[in-house]
Amino acid sequence: MKNNTSNFHNIRFKTLFSEEMISARVKELGLQIANDYVERNPIFVCILRGGIYFFSDLTKAVPIPIELDFMQAKSYVGTESSGNIELIKDLDSDISGRDVLIVEDIVDTGRTLKFLISHILSKKPKSLEVAALLFKEGGEAVGYPIKYIGWKIGKEFVIGYGLDYDGKFRNLPGVFLYSEE
Ligand code: IMP
Repeated sequence: MKNNTSNFHNIRFKTLFSEEMISARVKELGLQIANDYVERNPIFVCILRGGIYFFSDLTKAVPIPIELDFMQAKSYVGTESSGNIELIKDLDSDISGRDVLIVEDIVDTGRTLKFLISHILSKKPKSLEVAALLFKEGGEAVGYPIKYIGWKIGKEFVIGYGLDYDGKFRNLPGVFLYSEE
C-alpha cells in the first residue's frame, strides 16, 4: 500500500483504513472485550461472509476462553422482495443462558443486524452485544446499542477486509473507498 491507495488488479482505491490501522484498532477492541467478558466464556458469532477477517483477527486478540459460531443471512435488495432477509445458516450452538457477541463487518441501514438480533434473542441468551468494525451514518435505525465499534463512517461504499462489491475485493487487506474506474 503506497500513496494512500491500493493497487489491486490494476485498479487503484483510496485507503480509508490501512492494514496497520485495522490491526491496532482490533487489538484495542480485543482487550476491551476481554476485560468485559472475563470468566463468562462468551460465544462469538461470525456473520458470514463479510465478517470473516474481522472475526478471525478479533477472536485472536481476546486473551480469554471463548467459543465460536457462525451465521449467515441473505437480503434481497433490489428485487420485488426488497428488504426481505432470510437466514441461510443458523447457529450450531445452544446459546440459551449464554453470553453472546455478534461480530459484524459493517452496519449500514441496520436491517440485517436487526433481523439477526431478534433471531438470536428468541433463543434466550443471557446477554447479547454487538461488535461492528464499521458503523455507517444512520445505522442507529437498528434500535439496539452497538457496544463495540471500530470506526464510524459516512454513507460511502467501502470494500476490503471482508467487504465486497459484487462478490469481489473481500481479500483486500485494508478498507478502501470503492470507486468505478
Ligand atoms: P444493512 O442491513 O443495510 O445494515 O447492511 C448490512 C450488510 O450490507 C453488511 O453486512 C454488508 O454485507 C453490506 N454492506 C453495507 N454497506 C456496505 C459497504 O459499504 N460495502 C460493502 N458491503 C456493504
